[in-house]
Amino acid sequence: MSVIISGATVLTDSGEQRLDVRIEGGVIAEMATTITASADDVVLSAVGCHVLPGFVDLHTHLREPGKEDSETIETGSRAGAKGGYTALVAMPNTTPAQDSIPIIEFVRAQGRRAGLVEVAPSGCITVGRAGVALAPLADMARNGVKIFTDDGSGVQDPAIMRRAMEYSRELGITLAQHCEVSALTAGAVMNECSCSSEMGVPGWPALAEELMVHRDIELAKLTGARIHFLHLSTAGSVHLVREAKKAGLPITAEVTPHHLSLTEELLKSFDSTYKVNPPLRSAADIEALKEGLLDGTIDAVATDHAPHVRRDKELPLDQAPPGMLGLETALGVVLSVVPMSAAQLATVMSTNPARIAGLSDRHGMLAAVGRPANLCVVDLDAQWSVDPTQLASKSINTPFVGRSLRGKVRHTIFEGVVVVNEGVAQR
Ligand code: DOR
Repeated sequence: MSVIISGATVLTDSGEQRLDVRIEGGVIAEMATTITASADDVVLSAVGCHVLPGFVDLHTHLREPGKEDSETIETGSRAGAKGGYTALVAMPNTTPAQDSIPIIEFVRAQGRRAGLVEVAPSGCITVGRAGVALAPLADMARNGVKIFTDDGSGVQDPAIMRRAMEYSRELGITLAQHCEVSALTAGAVMNECSCSSEMGVPGWPALAEELMVHRDIELAKLTGARIHFLHLSTAGSVHLVREAKKAGLPITAEVTPHHLSLTEELLKSFDSTYKVNPPLRSAADIEALKEGLLDGTIDAVATDHAPHVRRDKELPLDQAPPGMLGLETALGVVLSVVPMSAAQLATVMSTNPARIAGLSDRHGMLAAVGRPANLCVVDLDAQWSVDPTQLASKSINTPFVGRSLRGKVRHTIFEGVVVVNEGVAQR
């Protein structure tokens, strides 16, 4: 029995080609202009669609262990598969935090059990994400962890960060920084701007992000370590990364769909759906982020999928937790606001993030015979809007309900198995 993707435009090493694709034994077995299906084959109709490498999310909060009322590894995996993802990097701000091998192995095993995407746990940089003592980086690296972060908070102490960077070089791992100098963001609920003054709420200055980006660029210079910057949100950060890359430093960066599409003014409603960390910024910041994504300064789109239960998000703005859903809307939001070719999309949503996460041996590869079948089939022109009753995520904290989005996932194939067919999860 094979899976046949029929009638699609396939993104290959030599560009876009009109081909059928046959998948068998977890790999791409054949690509030809026409492949005739046998009676027991599963045929996925894909006329008008593109076959792309399955998306890879560098930044997913799956909440398990600890907050299974907002998301579980299974529901988050399903949301990911519906969004075209075949691999998710699980953020470590779980309870307990992902700072030891038993937790790492638990997260990985729950991912395998769900069987919808590959769940690649990140490890903490410091014990309990407390920023005080280094976590057992070498043990976790030996266990297969490729990317380390204290996401949810940045590593404040430059001496700890320097030490982590020195070790990371030896271990061949990537450190991913949540850039926020917390002394500058105490009590802040939104970007520091004229709106925050008018609303009388504490603002979050761009400098809180940019100071840490600058510090870590300097530390990368000193140590030669690789550093990845999570969810960049300001024009100043884009400028710093652009200059650092020009100087040849091994730096990568990501941007979220919401920082590419939503502005600080939305907080005027006091609606905590729009409260995120880092905060939504200005239209000028959005323009700089888009430019950075298109010129390669920013390597990847990453969702920062951050489910929260309704009762938490209904708290007053200053008490509600930051974060919004991202996995099921990422493609639609990104294509709605940044004009991109299929090849550009594959680069920023799959190939680059797979490389940064250390997953390139099985994800992020353009279709070719013999390669692993981790693929998504997407209609890049489909207009659609989110039906909140159809979300696979356990939470509903998305601001994109009611917006018209462009670009929809039709099918997702993970390890050769159809896990989403016509937009419907099969498991
Ligand atoms: O908005 C956010 N939510 N940003 C983060 O860095 C953490 C995340 C969460 O865990 O909810």
